[in-house]
Amino acid sequence: MNTTALKISSELEQTQHEFWNISHQTAEFISMLIKISEVRNVLEIGTSNGYSTLWIADALKDAGRNGHLTTIEFYEKRQCIAKENIAKCGLSDYVTFRQGRALEILANLDFIPDMVFIDANKSEYIQYFDLLKDKLSKGSIILADNVISHAAKVADFLNEIKNDVRYQSQILDLPAGLLMALKLA
Ligand SMILES: C[S@@+](CC[C@H](N)C(=O)[O-])C[C@H]1O[C@@H](n2cnc3c(N)ncnc32)[C@H](O)[C@@H]1O
Repeated sequence: MNTTALKISSELEQTQHEFWNISHQTAEFISMLIKISEVRNVLEIGTSNGYSTLWIADALKDAGRNGHLTTIEFYEKRQCIAKENIAKCGLSDYVTFRQGRALEILANLDFIPDMVFIDANKSEYIQYFDLLKDKLSKGSIILADNVISHAAKVADFLNEIKNDVRYQSQILDLPAGLLMALKLA
């Protein structure tokens, strides 16, 4: 990560609770996963001020595979802050910002991601999955944050993905709990 991105990342970590950002550990994990995998088209559901966006975009840049991130946020002010943060890091070319309700954007998605990072409305996780599960190709990865911290709210989603034979999944013991699922077929 370049020095500016590192500086912005540490600054954002000071307001982590205000913007509901993922933990630093989770960000490091997602970044490494992008670098070791073949991922090129990432979809993030829940941008907030762009902390996870920064980590994903930086990893895509570092991986050098011409990767791109599309990130969804309905709160305009928060999206503006995210755009500024990503621009300051010199990562704007790697990110497309979509403003609006995740369910509406997902229903009309014009590309098929090979990694999805779910981190928006916990009660809607199951609907995000329902809209994406058939479209994703074999080898695609789904990540979902807060599956331990908000276990009750995401229980239906966890149950559904666990019982879908096309997906192999595991809950990782990172802060808040990160679900990782791999599409097998
Ligand atoms: C947990 S925060 C995302 C944090 C971000 N991924 C990070 O780690 O830096 C969730 C964000 O999702 C947005 N959000 C919640 N429900 C949404 C929805 N239905 N559609 C779009 N955005 C939504 C919220 O406004 C909030 O900014």
